[in-house]
Amino acid sequence: MTTPSADKQAPAKQDRVLIFDTTLRDGEQSPGASMTHEEKLAIAELLDDMGVDIIEAGFPIASEGDFEAVSDIARLAKRSVICGLARASIGDIDRCWDAVRHAKRPRIHTFIGTSPLHREHQLSMSKEQVLEKITATVSHARNLCEDIQWSPMDATRTEEDFLCLAIETAVKAGATTINIPDTVGYTAPGESAQIIRMLLERVPGLDKCIIATHCHNDLGMATANSLAAVEAGARQIECTINGLGERAGNTALEEVVMALRVRNDIMPFSTGVDSTRLMQASRMVASAAGFPVQFNKAIVGKNAFAHESGIHQDGMLKHSGTFEIMRPADVGLNATALVLGKHSGRHALKNKLKELGYELGDNQIADVFVRFKALADRKKEVYDEDLVALMEVEASSA
Ligand code: KIV
Ligand code: ZN
Repeated sequence: MTTPSADKQAPAKQDRVLIFDTTLRDGEQSPGASMTHEEKLAIAELLDDMGVDIIEAGFPIASEGDFEAVSDIARLAKRSVICGLARASIGDIDRCWDAVRHAKRPRIHTFIGTSPLHREHQLSMSKEQVLEKITATVSHARNLCEDIQWSPMDATRTEEDFLCLAIETAVKAGATTINIPDTVGYTAPGESAQIIRMLLERVPGLDKCIIATHCHNDLGMATANSLAAVEAGARQIECTINGLGERAGNTALEEVVMALRVRNDIMPFSTGVDSTRLMQASRMVASAAGFPVQFNKAIVGKNAFAHESGIHQDGMLKHSGTFEIMRPADVGLNATALVLGKHSGRHALKNKLKELGYELGDNQIADVFVRFKALADRKKEVYDEDLVALMEVEASSA
């Protein structure tokens, strides 16, 4: 694993972005998404296997169940860093350490709100009190564990001067990763990048830490904001499978992993994630959380590699690059789906019939195509069985 400072000397392609998965913590905070102990363990095992660098396994103080899940995940992980979340309280941090300390590579992640809204309305604390709390809690955590992540919650709505001061305080107290949360999904790509650049320029010692980006998707910009932060110097992306998370969710892991892979020409960063496991992870999380994946979800949606229109199907049959920017196999899917419907063309129909064992000449296909269009007008999708029935009617009327 390389650090941002070490990366500076390396050729661009060597820049490694750490993937921090918080499906089991921020993802599970999504209303209605709670998972069983066994489901959490199975998801953690898959994340560990597929090369996720850091797994945020839960919030140990939140409940006995969360504590048990984080401890068991810490015991089972083979290579991922196992992280637990803790508020800025000694009790939270001690409980978190008790859960993660079984891991080969444990991490404590502690946070406090820094924006005016959070300071005044959530914490009722002055700036000075927040700074004192940061010193006390981060240094306490650092005495327990070498790997400490600290987050200024609602960072993107925090005054720049105070954000710099708060981060400097956390770095001095021993934080090794500084996470910049866009807690309410308020930032935009240009601003996300500008914040990271500004912090790197102004905060002493920050260049020795990993900078993380943690974006929420309230305005649908979480993936773009995360990638912009990476381009500006962040080297850890916090994300969840299927973008599961509070309100509109978090940055989707599958989106950032594939964006960095497909557009490596303009974003020369690599991750350690085996992308061929993405579909498996998506299905596992959707089923455990009980949250179906929207059909047109990027990368893992049912329609992400499906084509219905005649022009697209015709192009795909000639060369898959015409309408696909990645191969289905790259995300763990067997094949592209050419879905037959009213927009499909003759070429796709002929191809499908051939697959089903019907070799038709041009005249015959012209006739069947008329019947197929009439059927497709009545039905949304035409399945293999419909085509077989159509061919039987054709044969009996011949
Ligand atoms: O969104 C957020 O601010 C968080 C913090 C706990 C990092 O999830
Ligand atoms: Zn969050």
